[in-house]
Amino acid sequence: MEEVSLQTQLFAADPEPTVTAKERAREADRVYLGDNLEVLQKLPSDHFQMVYVDPPFNTGKVQKRISIKTVRDAAGDRTGFKGARYSSEVQSAHQYWDIHEDYLGFLEARLLEARRVLHPTGTMYLHLDYREVHYAKVLMDEIFGRENFLNEIIWAYDYGARSTKKWPAKHDNILVYVRDVDRYLFDESEVDREPYMAPGLVTPEKAARGKLPTDVWWHTIVSPTGREKTGYPTQKPLGILRRMITASTRPGDWVLDFFAGSGSTGHAARELGRHFVLVDNSPVALDIMRERLGADNTAYETVPGTEPGQPES
Ligand SMILES: C[S@@+](CC[C@H](N)C(=O)[O-])C[C@H]1O[C@@H](n2cnc3c(N)ncnc32)[C@H](O)[C@@H]1O
Repeated sequence: MEEVSLQTQLFAADPEPTVTAKERAREADRVYLGDNLEVLQKLPSDHFQMVYVDPPFNTGKVQKRISIKTVRDAAGDRTGFKGARYSSEVQSAHQYWDIHEDYLGFLEARLLEARRVLHPTGTMYLHLDYREVHYAKVLMDEIFGRENFLNEIIWAYDYGARSTKKWPAKHDNILVYVRDVDRYLFDESEVDREPYMAPGLVTPEKAARGKLPTDVWWHTIVSPTGREKTGYPTQKPLGILRRMITASTRPGDWVLDFFAGSGSTGHAARELGRHFVLVDNSPVALDIMRERLGADNTAYETVPGTEPGQPES
């Protein structure tokens, strides 16, 4: 693991002309354990081609994920196939607080910094849900300018408990803003395509190629039993991150996620040949990211004086 210090200048905001693109490409990806505001304030302006954040949704709950292994046990409390008895063992339990008194104030300080560190042709994705998205839209309009609002992506899924007292809420909202609506990067050429809903209404060539996804994305959540799963609560699927990164960055660009959790953004960015900086204040998240992203060309640092922001797990 490469040790770095926040006190040192981590990035050349205006790289010297003597630093070649090839040398810059060797710069290490970075993962910080600490409060994201403190880290953001030390990052250079205009550096990141894309910022994606998935902050706590202010659900008012402790977000928790427990993995359970079921083992054959004559004295167990569960009955399975042909009457066999099983007991369950808790393998791991990860959790963090998602309760904020001044949620918008908390977000605002960080979103202002996010805009500052975004490249002039860059894009910001703010992932929320129905509870806060409308307030956050007004806040983002103030910070980025209403003219720089590009999309509201609806990520729709179909999993988990269903209320029978109202329409079951099964979508998240991702607000997309650019620094400058007249010069932002959006490259749809490499984005995965979707089948047309009515392929008979378009030419066979178009039907075979599929269509650019609209602003409504149907995508499963991370399967609790699938390979992608890290066990971290609220982990987001690589499929939706790949889509955003592919459209809004080029290979070699820098991507920032300062509510990084299990490091999904870093995982997708690396697969696509992009660099990343990730920040989270949970030691559990840092451990998961370390395991997921490895030490190869990746530097991990704890911001001095960091208090674990989460309950122990
Ligand atoms: C919704 S989760 C992110 C999940 C992530 N997108 C993933 O795919 O795993 C939000 C994360 O924000 C972190 N967090 C909350 N407040 C923070 C702060 N002030 N500074 C840094 N991280 C923070 C939490 O520890 C949590 O991991």
